Amino acid sequence: MTKKMWGGRFKKKTDPLVEEFTKSIDYDYKLAKYDVLGSIMHVLILKKSSLITNKEAEKLGSALKKIYNRIEKKKFAIDRKAEDIHTNIQNAIEKELGSLALKLHTARSRNDQVLFDLKLFCAAELNNIQGLSLALMESLKTVCKKAKGIIIPGYTHLQHAQLVYLSDYLGSFIEMLERDNKRLENIKNSMKLTLGAGALAGTPIDAKLYKKEAKGIKIEPTTNPIDTVSDRDFVIEILSMLSILGMHLSRLAEDLIIWSTKEFNFVELDDAFATGSSLMPQKKNPDVLELIRGYTGTLNGNLISVLTMMKGLSLGYNRDMQLDKPPLFSSFEIIAQELQILAKLVERLAWNRRVIKKRIEEDEALYATDLVYYLIKKGVPFKRAHDIIGKLVKFSLDKGRKIKGMKDTELAKFSNKFKHSEIARLLDPLVSVKSRISIKR
Ligand code: ARG
Repeated sequence: MTKKMWGGRFKKKTDPLVEEFTKSIDYDYKLAKYDVLGSIMHVLILKKSSLITNKEAEKLGSALKKIYNRIEKKKFAIDRKAEDIHTNIQNAIEKELGSLALKLHTARSRNDQVLFDLKLFCAAELNNIQGLSLALMESLKTVCKKAKGIIIPGYTHLQHAQLVYLSDYLGSFIEMLERDNKRLENIKNSMKLTLGAGALAGTPIDAKLYKKEAKGIKIEPTTNPIDTVSDRDFVIEILSMLSILGMHLSRLAEDLIIWSTKEFNFVELDDAFATGSSLMPQKKNPDVLELIRGYTGTLNGNLISVLTMMKGLSLGYNRDMQLDKPPLFSSFEIIAQELQILAKLVERLAWNRRVIKKRIEEDEALYATDLVYYLIKKGVPFKRAHDIIGKLVKFSLDKGRKIKGMKDTELAKFSNKFKHSEIARLLDPLVSVKSRISIKR
């Protein structure tokens, strides 16, 4: 292991098993850029509080900027033997500046450093997710436009219920994504970026000096450093929001899986977004959609993992908290991939208009509720109308008789309010969907 950020009070070398077990560099290397940004801010504060001279600040600042540029250009070599990214970067600065680098950690602890880095990382990732979900919404809007006029059976309990526009069905996913976006926005706005907590007790630097705004990053002084270093609410909130978002995507995935079966055949996936079978040559499988459905397990697990890790932790930093990162990184990655894939996949869906139309024609019961409204308009109370139509539908199904083909005399056995000519006009998909005017289109 390379040089540690501690060690003075230790006589023995750390056991290699302990080094391996405790290190986080294998995943927290992702925080490199944000760690350097935090250090750049910290140098300015040390200068203002006269803990380092202007000249020292300048040297530290330019060494940090060099490292920052190297990270940006992917030329910064992550030291996999370092305990964590904070140690890795501290060692890199020491290599660059020698003893001056030893002043950088003045009035700072990895406990507030890691929190600062993680919040900056989250802010960037949240923006990324927001952009990707807006792109998926755009794709869904395009699909809605292309699907104009397609009427599908709407389902409850996965049974035919009432006719709906396909665009209204898809539009409901846009609404879900809008709610997800609101949740995301709220988290972004409530995530306070603080400095000055130190290990847990604050620092000897005036709180005013921690108030800073530079390059779009707004830093505030901590108001309670014990809480600041102990808080991982933002991680849990993000994981919860990503879980809900993933659950929404899994519901879209599930319907597309069902609709692309031979039995439904409403839609066909583009070849580029389907997979085959190693044994059965005819197969075209929706593996992508199944994984989107399956990953909800990982997303929910990630949330539960951090919630459980935090439960009952005594106040102050505990090393347990290092374990917030793998689940957080995992959920961000999964959702980013899912949003990107779905944006392409939905745009390339081929809708089988002919099959959908036929399926609707086969099932007059889809108009049952419309027929109830017809009787209500003629003064029949709802409950009675419900009963009459129930009997009519049962008769039609049992006898294999189309309601549309029934004469006035036959219809009169159920209600004398029925008129064949009116019923025939009513049993039309377009008339049905257009009669529902409570939908804002
Ligand atoms: N790798 C640690 C984490 O991710 C950084 C903070 C370590 N602090 C400490 N006191 N050991 O949480």
